[in-house]
Amino acid sequence: MAVIVDLDPAGAETLRSALGSGSEVLPSIDALKRYLEEHPGEDAVVLGSSVDLHTALSIAENMRITRPTLGVVLVRRRIDTSVLADALRAGVREVVEDRDLSGLNAAVRRTVDLSHRLREGALGGEGEEGERRTSRIVTVFSAKGGCGKTTLATNLAAVLADRGRREVCLVDLDLAFGDVAIALQLFPAHTIADAIPLGDTLDAEGVRSLLTPHSPGLTTLVAPVEPGTASAIPAELITRILTILSHEFDYVVIDTPPAFDDQVLAAFDQSDVIANIATLDIPAIKNLKLTLETLDLLNFSRERWQIVLNRADSKVGLSVNEVEKTLNARIVAQIPSSRDVPAATNRGVPIVLDQPKHPVSVSIRRFAEEYVIAAAPAETAVPRELRRDRRLFKRKAPSS
Ligand SMILES: Nc1ncnc2c1ncn2[C@@H]1O[C@H](COP(=O)(O)OP(=O)(O)O)[C@@H](O)[C@H]1O
Ligand SMILES: [Mg+2]
Repeated sequence: MAVIVDLDPAGAETLRSALGSGSEVLPSIDALKRYLEEHPGEDAVVLGSSVDLHTALSIAENMRITRPTLGVVLVRRRIDTSVLADALRAGVREVVEDRDLSGLNAAVRRTVDLSHRLREGALGGEGEEGERRTSRIVTVFSAKGGCGKTTLATNLAAVLADRGRREVCLVDLDLAFGDVAIALQLFPAHTIADAIPLGDTLDAEGVRSLLTPHSPGLTTLVAPVEPGTASAIPAELITRILTILSHEFDYVVIDTPPAFDDQVLAAFDQSDVIANIATLDIPAIKNLKLTLETLDLLNFSRERWQIVLNRADSKVGLSVNEVEKTLNARIVAQIPSSRDVPAATNRGVPIVLDQPKHPVSVSIRRFAEEYVIAAAPAETAVPRELRRDRRLFKRKAPSS
């Protein structure tokens, strides 16, 4: 399963018992070097707590460059934020406490699985554009603020993760005023802005080091803290990040700002599902109509976008039927209005996790099952030659 290095024989034996048969134990770093030369297909190396941190990190750094598909798992007696930060920077995939043997087993399994997937990707040889993807990218959009984008995106991501059954990454593309971190009460060490200096060299390990976990199966890539950073994140970098995430996760869910900007268009290009959310008021419906017309102009096939109505039960004089007629499109999901939604957000827990039977949770889960999980992946994104034309349409697009 993995190769273990521990200079202390008793420690090595404990680690081996956690990983079961099929794991090799080595007594020194020199032995590891020889072993890796003879075993180019090895997936994971576990460095026990007797290996000093400096040596362990330089091994990880070296492997990241020379053997990117090999994962390094670091075992430490105690883990603090400085160890974690150094480990992430060096490209260590997981850090586990030495007492946490079941955690070690799970970490090694994840690492081996990722190594397999990376190797399949590396051997696929078709290049970025041609690679087949089994994951789905879902973008939640509305050209008007306050419609419930962040609410739907966070809850959709949690529903899809299903408490660890699937791996989901929620990306906050509301780069100036993103509030995913606040809605989920996260304390991120990194934001998407940290990808800027990495530019073209950004790889899977690099993206992974920027993520902030929330709950089993649900990880996030949060927006920059400083609103001014937004414009410094080129659309090409967003495309690169989403491509990498789509190979690492079962679902990538994207929260957006209330505007068609370059970064949002980059997300649309790669999305299998665009969930347009609106409320039952004239400005929201007007913006939704303009959005749908723009999506048509941009040649997004109608199968790729859906309409979700939020606070659908509000008594405001507009009926769902009238709205569908105005839009000439079907509303596929209706999320009721409830005070429990902001209350859950204020507790930092998506309502679908907190109150799974709540009517709001049920409607979001149904949307996820029928329109996201069941959706076919977009065959090909919009052809390259059409992409350039989009910039012409951009000026006509609605904004809040
Ligand atoms: N179905 C709902 N019922 C009650 N309040 C809601 C509902 N959906 C969203 N809200 C509240 O409306 C506000 C705006 O929602 P948010 O998801 O932040 O919108 P956006 O991201 O589109 O700006 C938040 O305070 C949120 O808690
Ligand atoms: Mg928002």
